[in-house]
Amino acid sequence: MSPRHERPVALITGAGKRVGAVIARTLHAAGYDLALHYRHSATETELLAASLERMRANSTYTVQAELADIDGLHGMMERVLARFGRLDALVNNASAFYPTPVGTATVAQWNELFASNAQAPFFLSQAATPALREAGGAIVNLVDIYAERPLAQHPLYCMAKAALAAMTRSLALDLGPQVRVNGIAPGAVMWPSDGKPYDDQQAMLARTPLQRAGSPEDVAGAVLWLLRDAPFVTGQIIRIDGGRTLSV
Ligand SMILES: NC(=O)c1ccc[n+]([C@@H]2O[C@H](COP(=O)([O-])OP(=O)(O)OC[C@H]3O[C@@H](n4cnc5c(N)ncnc54)[C@H](OP(=O)(O)O)[C@@H]3O)[C@@H](O)[C@H]2O)c1
Repeated sequence: MSPRHERPVALITGAGKRVGAVIARTLHAAGYDLALHYRHSATETELLAASLERMRANSTYTVQAELADIDGLHGMMERVLARFGRLDALVNNASAFYPTPVGTATVAQWNELFASNAQAPFFLSQAATPALREAGGAIVNLVDIYAERPLAQHPLYCMAKAALAAMTRSLALDLGPQVRVNGIAPGAVMWPSDGKPYDDQQAMLARTPLQRAGSPEDVAGAVLWLLRDAPFVTGQIIRIDGGRTLSV
């Protein structure tokens, strides 16, 4: 069931920078053509696409969308399929992340955190299913170790990622045998870009058996493995966390 097409196609959400961009570079180096989704990061995404095009011509397509706009998700998928004519992989990477302490959380925050972390991954997966079935493709969802063990002051984010974890198992059940669905639960692989500490970073690393933060490359390598090299794996959420969740 792994993509054996000579130019498999992957759609990656939130692909313009950070972890998404490293996933994009990794899949592209492995021979995937890429639909690179972005919302605000137009410049970064166009620069990324240009650098990938220099390596392999006609191998990228950039697509802008606000993932909270459910009505736009089908159109986005149609544009991707019109460009490439097939889809082998969907990587649900885009995510909003910020604290929502009890007593301050709003419905707008609920909607924003669930939109990118749970709602759009579901409706994009649904829109992608016919093409993925045809290709014998796969979905990888970027979950978080905090879906299982919550991060203090972040209930809505943790709940949204828990919904994504449940979705991973549900869709694996429903989309087989043609489509495999898996998740990755990273620990710390890239600190938030606003520089605000969201936990005691040194204490967190001290509790981690491998005693260091991971890298986006650690995550990207696991995405590639799940998409290409794991034909008997579905419904699994693999922790890429240096062993941090082994101890309480
Ligand atoms: N970084 C870590 O250490 C870590 C740890 C655990 C889990 N993860 C998970 O791994 C994935 C990648 O992490 P990251 O830190 O690289 O993510 P990130 O930088 O926080 O976000 C990735 C992208 O998501 C897009 N996005 C957010 N809300 C959106 C919306 N409503 N519509 C469309 N796009 C939206 C943004 O795209 P634009 O910039 O184009 O607007 C953003 O650049 C995420 O799912 C994250 O939860 C990361």
